[in-house]
Amino acid sequence: MDWQNLSTILAGLPVPQFRFYASIGSTNDEALHWAAEGAVDGCLVIADTQTNGRGRLNRKWVTQPGAALAFSLILRPSPAEAERLNRFPFLAALAVCLALEETAGLETSIKWPNDVLIQQRKAAGILVETGWSGDRLDCMVVGVGVNVTRDAVPEAEEVRFPATSVEDNTSTPVKPGKLLRSILQHLFDWRSRLADPEFHQELEKRLAFRKKWVRIEEGAGRTVTGQVVGLDPSGALILRAAPGKNDKGDGQLFTVTVGDLHLALLDS
Ligand code: BTN
Repeated sequence: MDWQNLSTILAGLPVPQFRFYASIGSTNDEALHWAAEGAVDGCLVIADTQTNGRGRLNRKWVTQPGAALAFSLILRPSPAEAERLNRFPFLAALAVCLALEETAGLETSIKWPNDVLIQQRKAAGILVETGWSGDRLDCMVVGVGVNVTRDAVPEAEEVRFPATSVEDNTSTPVKPGKLLRSILQHLFDWRSRLADPEFHQELEKRLAFRKKWVRIEEGAGRTVTGQVVGLDPSGALILRAAPGKNDKGDGQLFTVTVGDLHLALLDS
């Protein structure tokens, strides 16, 4: 991808400095190092290729040359933002959705907690990591990977959920630089509105698999099954208990705060 004019692409955004790499291990790792060296709020790391990209739950994230957006934004959360850290992954997901809607006219949805879907297939993933000095939050790194061209889409057997790309869903090519700028613009715009009811509404509007039966793998072999009802204000997923599938009472509402969502084959 042609990233020659990155300064022009980022002009006017609150991105004081950026580092571009043709190839790097992981932009999140580089951003965490740079933050530890003192990078200020809004500094950006972007790469054309990642050789050691990481996803949630320590999964591998492949970034092929010229095929994807892979970047990490360094943030220094204010004390008020630090109270709402769990909203940042949702903020990034919303920004990606809005940018895909704006630049490519696509309909998007969010597979809880923060995968961006196009036509029910994953087109983008988000990995938010934090750096701490003792028990004080020092920085946050918002890592975003978007499958721009078909070449970015992993083989079906390599993924746990069907994947797609922007190219697969549009007839007019989308310029990656334009997409990057739009994502950042929306992220900065909504960053100041994390506590607004509208932020929650925008997420709710895009929540994927509403009313569907899903299975959440919570880790350590723990799995719960339920019907998707919505999001609570903290970003936890609200589910309705499935008959005979949980230790929860049938039909009761309950929430999950971490996990990996899979569609469950239950009659609704
Ligand atoms: C996921 O879906 O599990 C999250 C994927 C996040 C990938 C991005 S690409 C840029 C940044 N650098 C990384 O190593 N990971 C994130």
